[in-house]
Amino acid sequence: MEHSHHIHLLLLLLITTSLAPSQASLGNGHTIKSATFLSPKFMLGPGSVENNFFYNIDFPRGHIGLKSFDAEVVDEAGNSVPLYETYLHHWLVERYHVPREKARDPNLSGKDVTYVRNDGFCQNGINRQSNGLGSETRRTSTYVPDPYAIQVGNPAEIPDGYEEGWMLNVHAIDTRGAEDRLGCTECLCELYNTSGVARFLRNDYRGGLFCCFGHTECRVEQGFVAPRRNLYLRYTVKWVDWDIGILPVKIYIFDVTDTGKRNGGSTGFGPENGCQIEYDIEPCRAHGWCVDVKRRNFTMPSGGYIVYSVAHQHTGGIGSTLYGKDGRVICHSVPIYGTGNEPGNEDGYIVGMTTCYPKFGSVKLAAGEELILESNYTSTSERGHTGVMGLFYILVADQTPSAFPFLGAPFSIGDYLSLSSWYAVALFGLMAVAVAVAIGVGVLSFARKEGAESGYHRVMA
Ligand SMILES: *[C@@H]1O[C@H](CO)[C@@H](O)[C@H](O)[C@H]1NC(C)=O
Ligand SMILES: *[C@@H]1O[C@H](CO)[C@@H](O)[C@H](O)[C@H]1NC(C)=O
Ligand SMILES: *[C@@H]1O[C@H](CO)[C@@H](O)[C@H](O)[C@H]1NC(C)=O
Ligand SMILES: *[C@@H]1O[C@H](CO)[C@@H](O)[C@H](O)[C@H]1NC(C)=O
Repeated sequence: MEHSHHIHLLLLLLITTSLAPSQASLGNGHTIKSATFLSPKFMLGPGSVENNFFYNIDFPRGHIGLKSFDAEVVDEAGNSVPLYETYLHHWLVERYHVPREKARDPNLSGKDVTYVRNDGFCQNGINRQSNGLGSETRRTSTYVPDPYAIQVGNPAEIPDGYEEGWMLNVHAIDTRGAEDRLGCTECLCELYNTSGVARFLRNDYRGGLFCCFGHTECRVEQGFVAPRRNLYLRYTVKWVDWDIGILPVKIYIFDVTDTGKRNGGSTGFGPENGCQIEYDIEPCRAHGWCVDVKRRNFTMPSGGYIVYSVAHQHTGGIGSTLYGKDGRVICHSVPIYGTGNEPGNEDGYIVGMTTCYPKFGSVKLAAGEELILESNYTSTSERGHTGVMGLFYILVADQTPSAFPFLGAPFSIGDYLSLSSWYAVALFGLMAVAVAVAIGVGVLSFARKEGAESGYHRVMA
């Protein structure tokens, strides 16, 4: 290791002296910036629900690469609020373009903006999402590993006269004093003052988003009182300024309830349409414990290399796997259940999801490859679940990083053919130097050893 450090230094020295203009583009020098913001406030009392859509939220501006987005609910004093008091059903961030003169209008709404779609499937909110999580947000890693990032604010993609903005949707349920906490978090219609509304939708609709929308109320124990209070979503964004050394990733979000025709044929949101987002788990017929397995196939519109993946499940979830062709496991992501009292470890709640960070280049998806998403839940004879989800979020890159020791993956000349020619020439020069030095001091064996460590690094953040 000591040995290789010297080699890195030597290489850097050579790069600095011979190729000054490109040194900052080579992946090593990206300063990661970080900023923490508070959402506009929302107010909750026992049993109440808010589902707010905040436009033009505070967000880093300019042409940048997003590295992570972490969030939690806090109170007025900045204290973390536990899930058994305020259940964070979900938060989502969605990027949009808006005419410049409207961008700061405090009354901005969805009809004024054009959402930027991700590369995923459903023709509803899911294909606008840049990021989003639920109760698991405190302990789920969202970090996009170097040299990758989610490219935003690219001036070339923003129409003339428009600017980019961000919408934050926060759906939170106050379960202090709830008669049935789990029922409230699962939006069981019989507990909310909306069951009549839901029956218009579908006779057998027992629970889900249509029963716990904003300004509804979940039943609270008689006589329970607690003050209404102001809450905020506190979010921390990490990013890098964009440059040619950063590799962009595509976002795909799969929904196990997606019954639409492939590629994005599903037409709407709601129980009767393609992407239902949520589904129910029936109580177990037998005594004891059942496993519900739900599967759905997806055909990838284009190929690439997986950089990061994570599933989203609700209480009762026991894991989700995305399989590729021939049943190979692309990522297995499982819920982490809390076991204590403190925020981030609330007993019985999903407080995190495990994530997959495959070694660069090791998990390749072919264009047209059929993937299978599997989402497993348990139920008991006493109780099923309503309004559960089976989403899977993957980041896919077109290329893998180069094989310079300080970038750490196999080099492919093809990766660089699309760069401007001076840059390609510079790289070839650099490569020749690197190879010469490497052979001389035995870096190749070091690199081979690194390369042999294949498979997944599953990270529990
Ligand atoms: C926003 O809406 C409020 C209430 O409808 C209205 O009073 C206000 O004038 C609007 N503001 C702008 C900038 O349009
Ligand atoms: C549910 O109750 C709350 C609080 O009383 C009320 O503000 C809300 O309008 C009710 N919602 C429906 C759909 O009846
Ligand atoms: C889904 O993929 C599996 C494995 O490739 C295949 O056996 C199955 O028939 C596919 N199902 C559908 C509905 O296409
Ligand atoms: C889901 O359950 C089935 C049946 O028990 C099992 O074969 C499969 O591996 C499980 N998948 C996940 C993602 O846990």
